[in-house]
Amino acid sequence: MKRAIGIVLIGLLMIFFAAYCGGGGPRRVPLAKPFPPSPVGEQLYGKYCALCHGDDGEGYKADEATALRSQDFLTIVSDSYISENTRRGRPGTPMSAWGLELGGALDAGELAAVVAHTRAWQQEQPIDVSGVKVDGDAEAGAEPYALHCETCHGQQGEGATAMTLNNPVFQETASDGLIRLTVEHGRRETKMPGFGGQLPGGEIDDVVAFVKAFPPSIPPSAASLDAPTGDPILNPGGPPAELTPKDGRFVPADDVKAALDAGQSLVMIDARPFSDYQISHIEGAISMPFYDVEKRADELPRDLWIITYCGCPHAISGQALDALRALGFEKSGILDEGVYVWEDRGYPMVVSE
Ligand code: HEC
Ligand code: HEC
Repeated sequence: MKRAIGIVLIGLLMIFFAAYCGGGGPRRVPLAKPFPPSPVGEQLYGKYCALCHGDDGEGYKADEATALRSQDFLTIVSDSYISENTRRGRPGTPMSAWGLELGGALDAGELAAVVAHTRAWQQEQPIDVSGVKVDGDAEAGAEPYALHCETCHGQQGEGATAMTLNNPVFQETASDGLIRLTVEHGRRETKMPGFGGQLPGGEIDDVVAFVKAFPPSIPPSAASLDAPTGDPILNPGGPPAELTPKDGRFVPADDVKAALDAGQSLVMIDARPFSDYQISHIEGAISMPFYDVEKRADELPRDLWIITYCGCPHAISGQALDALRALGFEKSGILDEGVYVWEDRGYPMVVSE
């Protein structure tokens, strides 16, 4: 009797094992123990990331900054995915390249600490998606994409109400498995729905193939512009601009442009990490990342209007403004619409080749 039970148990175990590990599908991997906290990472995260991704990684403090603590994200991404997407950022979106060598603020050790802090939010078992290969038909994926994805991610993955899917860094770092499982399961506690119950597997594969075929939004290796030198003042010697911020903070792009066209003098601060400034910036603006304003404020005149800007368009520029105001720079405001709208309106920009 005992032997029979034993044989049945071994049989069941074998079936279970085969079902779990067979083929190239995703596999749950046991979580040995909780990921340890990283106090250094927590502090760096609080300084550089929380303003957009939220204090606890809940996301959406600014624009489409994702929910980094989402278990559906953490369980399927590798440390190197988080690290590379942080180091290189998502050029052309508010997600800057944070790697020090790229003009960001984090050296390799600090980057690892931030990744460890992010990882410490993970409570569920990791899923190994490295064996997942998607062999879909991109052309066939166009229709279901237009039907189910476009309103949020844009026609060509350029982003609409949700993040982009055509970014070169995403395209290079996201594996088939990451994209497949995200589409199938969605991301709980975010607006990304799971399509597993709605679309047949083959159709999901086609959509994934379609997503992977998006032309990249900007060239992956954007050339770097040199650090600016010389006068921080635009139209030096001109009459000082007089601006009226809405709600005491926000200056419309058209007002700034009109002041510049009238030859009036003011200062524009690009408050993003230098890595973004190197890709493109408003003509005549100086680079002063929000986390450097306090230590570099003596470079700024006190009698002229200072306009800070970013891409988000208010989170980073808002931090820079708060730093300026705390130092007594009263004539200061935020470029209300941000740099991307400035560029869309055809106002003067310096763009790297
Ligand atoms: C100015 C706002 C902002 C700041 C500051 C910021 N991010 Fe982001 N982050 C974003 C946005 C927006 C996206 C989505 C970009 C896109 O559309 O591809 C993003 C995407 C990401 C992704 C990719 C997520 C995914 O689902 O694939 C990671 C990882 C990430 N950020 C980590 C960080 C870390 C770590 C920091 C701090 C060092 C940071 N971010 C700072 C706005 C920000
Ligand atoms: C209602 C809006 C919405 C719809 C519809 C939607 N998504 Fe998403 N999607 C999101 C949001 C929001 C996120 C980011 C979630 C987070 O991690 O915070 C996301 C994330 C993703 C990601 C992860 C990108 C990355 O960098 O990590 C992929 C891939 C994706 N969506 C593909 C799709 C596809 C394909 C479809 C259609 C089958 C689709 N989405 C439909 C809102 C949507």
